Amino acid sequence: MADEDSFRDKSGREFKFTSQDFKRVQKLIYDHAGISLSESKQELVYSRLSRRLRATGIRSFEEYLSLLEHDDEAEWEAFTNALTTNLTSFFRESHHFPILAEHMRKHTGHEPFAIWCSAASTGEEPFSIAMTAVDAFGSFAPPVTIIATDLDTNVLETAKAGVYPMARVEKLDPDLVKRFFLRGTGKQEGYVRVRKELRDMITFRQLNLLDNNWPIRSPLDVIFCRNVMIYFDKHTQLEILKKFVPLLRNDGLMFAGHSESFYHAEAYFKLRGKTVYELAAKAKTVSVPPSRRTDADSPPLVQRGAGKP
Ligand SMILES: C[S@@+](CC[C@H](N)C(=O)[O-])C[C@H]1O[C@@H](n2cnc3c(N)ncnc32)[C@H](O)[C@@H]1O
Repeated sequence: MADEDSFRDKSGREFKFTSQDFKRVQKLIYDHAGISLSESKQELVYSRLSRRLRATGIRSFEEYLSLLEHDDEAEWEAFTNALTTNLTSFFRESHHFPILAEHMRKHTGHEPFAIWCSAASTGEEPFSIAMTAVDAFGSFAPPVTIIATDLDTNVLETAKAGVYPMARVEKLDPDLVKRFFLRGTGKQEGYVRVRKELRDMITFRQLNLLDNNWPIRSPLDVIFCRNVMIYFDKHTQLEILKKFVPLLRNDGLMFAGHSESFYHAEAYFKLRGKTVYELAAKAKTVSVPPSRRTDADSPPLVQRGAGKP
């Protein structure tokens, strides 16, 4: 049997990682999740996937990538989770939330007001949306439904639990923290948990934005799609934006991330300001009637909250 050193990279690293291996990783994650990894990500990819090699006991990237190419379902999930970037925070890009609150208040004619948070990560974004809804309607049972999805199954577990280190809420208004979070005691010391009423307002599901069928009920009033398009190339972005159009009400809003711009999709979306988009005039004519759903067989993915603030 070969000794340990025969697997070491020339640079002394634990595993050999060639530019060919990196190209294979680039292709696999692009095809599966639309994520375009630039050359500058080689070290990051090495470090994140090395953990997978250790966890699976596989001794080379070549072997590991062959396993994926032969469709090992469980490892695909772990591989994808390892390569996503999940940076987020409560009320990130805070200028969006007053716009959301105003839009909610103006559009109470139909109920419920439906929001899809399409790259929810560990949950801070959908919980910020839920807190905004509670404050906009002055009730812990606002007429609002929130479906929060992400590709990464690990982050969704964190989101569902709604438990965060205190440091995640330190910069928030203390009054808001008091109203919406419970402080951990004993073993949970140093952590906060989002109140149950907020957790109950949100349905969390795994969803790959690259998939052809999204089990999302329409019409939607708002789509949050922030800081995920940045990982996709223009073609992939356009395909996703096209698919948002029939889901959104004619007067709906789409919130994008601070460094994302969709001028190449002006046939579908028009910038309203502050990286908030509305449907382009042409796109409005192709919107579907309210009763239509994208997946008639899927269970309801949105639900109402309950209780008083
Ligand atoms: C940087 S985080 C952004 C989180 C949040 N939207 C925000 O702005 O704070 C990007 C998220 O997009 C998710 N993601 C990446 N590729 C995806 C895909 N193909 N489908 C759905 N989600 C994806 C990642 O798992 C990650 O949680």
